[in-house]
Amino acid sequence: MHLNRRSLLAGAAASTVLSISVRAQILPPAGFATPSGTLPFPPDVYRERRARLMATLKDGVALIHGAQRGSTSGPVSPPFYQSGDFAWLTGIVDEPGAVLVLAPAERTYREFLLLPSRDIETERWDVERLPLGSQIEARTGIQRVRRVSALDALVTGIAARSHTLHFMGPIASAGSPVPPALDLYSRVMARVPGCTLKDQSALIPALRTVKEPRELDLMRRATAATKAGHLAAMKAVRPGMTERQLTAILEAGFRDGGGEGLSYDSIVATGRNAASLHYAHGTAVIGAQDLVLIDAAASVGTYACDVTRTFPASGKFTPAQRADYELVLAAQDAAAKMLKAGVIHEDMTEAANAVFRKAGRIDEFTHGLGHFVGLDVHDAGDYTKPLPAGAVLTIEPGLYNQQANQGIRIEDLYLVTATGAERLSTGIPRTVEEIEVFMAR
Ligand code: GLY
Ligand code: MN
Ligand code: MN
Repeated sequence: MHLNRRSLLAGAAASTVLSISVRAQILPPAGFATPSGTLPFPPDVYRERRARLMATLKDGVALIHGAQRGSTSGPVSPPFYQSGDFAWLTGIVDEPGAVLVLAPAERTYREFLLLPSRDIETERWDVERLPLGSQIEARTGIQRVRRVSALDALVTGIAARSHTLHFMGPIASAGSPVPPALDLYSRVMARVPGCTLKDQSALIPALRTVKEPRELDLMRRATAATKAGHLAAMKAVRPGMTERQLTAILEAGFRDGGGEGLSYDSIVATGRNAASLHYAHGTAVIGAQDLVLIDAAASVGTYACDVTRTFPASGKFTPAQRADYELVLAAQDAAAKMLKAGVIHEDMTEAANAVFRKAGRIDEFTHGLGHFVGLDVHDAGDYTKPLPAGAVLTIEPGLYNQQANQGIRIEDLYLVTATGAERLSTGIPRTVEEIEVFMAR
């Protein structure tokens, strides 16, 4: 699915994003737009994260590539989605093709940002970019800013001194292209004898999994905005509306609740459409007997949320709908009850599966139980390791039945604590009673 967590909600964006940058950043001089600085936190936050990473690496060289610009078929630039790892370490979300180089044991400069060359013709269409110099270094908080044309020589030089090459991941499948860092390392190893290649792909996900208080604060704000949108939609829904009309009400609610962007394209699916997991069309008319599924969330300060609610268009569940809904809720509760620091994710999945299996409905639950959420809606993290306190993840069981013309999913966001979990997405009607009472008001 297309996850446009950094796309902006019309109207909210200009003022809110700017207010963050005015408070926290060195503002660009007139005429030079990118890199615009670090978002959503000031440069020292990212410097401290890089220092933590370098303290673990100790020596050698590590490469973290930012995302490239997507391809376009028309004259308008496609939206740019920065890599989560790169954004978490730099706060730079607006320079496609950038590379971060970390060299923990170098004598003077230990972090380098390499940006693509300027192209005056492209800048006339797209955005004007800063020249190299102390200003760009002050704005990004990175010691040395260079052009990517210097990357090969820089990495070769560090490798010749340190002989350790750290691969920071993510691990790509064998059928996909070789990651650019490994491609460069293989060329370096062909020229510098005695280099060692180390797999460090677990390091950044482990750091990103445990949310900092400042990150949790933004995620709580994203969740409050998400709640406002879901409540608005649940209140306004009427048979005869199109999915798209309901989407407009939902997203206006996000904006009114303080949302700045969407965590991903909103899924608003009525009746049978809800049995297609990532349905995103919107032209169907909501029927009087339909269950409506909304999987949608606002973002704040580039941090995501992820919530799904399913409710009857009429405001009242039929007995059959109610029984199915309560089965999904029981599966969610069974998994949530197990959630605390130290639990293995698979054991939570088994707890939810057991509920469906006992009811003879396991074949209708056709996706994973949930995922980490943070800067990315499907955030970095290792599902095979015990969950750490400070992780945020969804629990989102569902039942999908095309024959019955319905799909039900209930998705909430949880913060893992030492003793249990806190449901962050509170206050959005979740039980049958809560939904029916709220919709009757
Ligand atoms: N909204 C996408 C998901 O639930 O994973
Ligand atoms: Mn999800
Ligand atoms: Mn979702």
